[in-house]
Amino acid sequence: MSERVVLAYSGGLDTSVGIGWLKDATGKEVVALAIDVGQGGEDMDDIRQRALDCGAVESIVVDAREEFASDYLMPALKANALYQKTYPLVSALSRPLIAKYLASTAKQLGANSVAHGCTGKGNDQVRFEAAVAALAPDLTSIAPVRDLALTRDKAIIYAEERNLPIRQSAASPYSIDKNVWGRAVETGFLEDPWNAPIEDLYEYTQDPSIAREADEVTITFAQGIPVAIDGVSFTPLGIVEELNVLAGKHGVGRIDVVEDRLVGIKSREVYEAPAAMALIQAHEALESLTIERDLNRYKRGVEAEWSNLVYDGLWFSSLKRSLDVFIDDTQKYVSGDIRLKLQGGRAVVTGQRSEQSLYDFDLATYDTGDTFDQSLSKGFIEIWSLPSKISARRDLAGK
Ligand code: ARG
Repeated sequence: MSERVVLAYSGGLDTSVGIGWLKDATGKEVVALAIDVGQGGEDMDDIRQRALDCGAVESIVVDAREEFASDYLMPALKANALYQKTYPLVSALSRPLIAKYLASTAKQLGANSVAHGCTGKGNDQVRFEAAVAALAPDLTSIAPVRDLALTRDKAIIYAEERNLPIRQSAASPYSIDKNVWGRAVETGFLEDPWNAPIEDLYEYTQDPSIAREADEVTITFAQGIPVAIDGVSFTPLGIVEELNVLAGKHGVGRIDVVEDRLVGIKSREVYEAPAAMALIQAHEALESLTIERDLNRYKRGVEAEWSNLVYDGLWFSSLKRSLDVFIDDTQKYVSGDIRLKLQGGRAVVTGQRSEQSLYDFDLATYDTGDTFDQSLSKGFIEIWSLPSKISARRDLAGK
């Protein structure tokens, strides 16, 4: 049997042509592996068949949607994960999952290498290969687009010459990656950051400037995980799918940003992530209600670190694992209800309650019945400001 390579297959032009291209260049038999992470669009069966029609010796489809939501999106939500405070890590979260299946499939089929369709300019190549390296250090990674100089023009000619069954869908000028956590749109006219996004770019969200009546939703969390919407229970995947529709209708979660890639390039990115952004907002509010001050403040720093690691392809690193343990511990009391008002592109928290709440009405109230002894504040401030007072005397001496 000749050597095999397992290719992360999307069904698109690059990975379809990549099958023959890999075979020609390396002599290896190509196994196509398509992972469903809720990207929608085409039927996964059609994608499976296309890989065979393009020359794969075997074609495997994995429905990983529940796993993706439970094991990748929920940790991201617990971490309120936003890279550079804006990007909910849509693509960065799917790569380690896909890499995990690449590695396990390679092991199962006795393949000694894996392949992906990324270019040499982005983050995704790093994420695939760093994850594979961490899980299966003996596997080699091949990137036909990057390593075998498979350009788009060459791919089109190759597909035409061999009559490959690829839908040349009026050649979208954009590079799009999507999954149930959101959509990323790059390139085309967006490469000039001065060009405003147009309505056509969006698929998960409707135009927030169109006047609509507000909707209210109540999200119930149990230990940091959303478990119900308006009292109806869902799996993590179900929650995300529901909120994509509910928040998407109001244009929640549109993001337009110039982002720092790991490879040093600044790139203009348009994202839409309605469920992700609404959930992070709700989750953060519930944390404010249920987590004490120091822990909450410290956690915000951990969240930034966690987001950087995941963005940078280090999902399976020791540091990330240890931070997960810390984050999980913080979620013990993050249970309760958050009410969101959805309108005009925004999700606004309008109600918060929890049986684990640290909010004490009797301490907070300015009405009668106040249990906070204000006379104690005087002495507290004396001592609190003592270091400032002493150093100020020195600093001002002789001035
Ligand atoms: N810039 C984002 C990231 O690095 C999105 C990448 C999208 N990938 C793509 N092939 N269009 O996570």
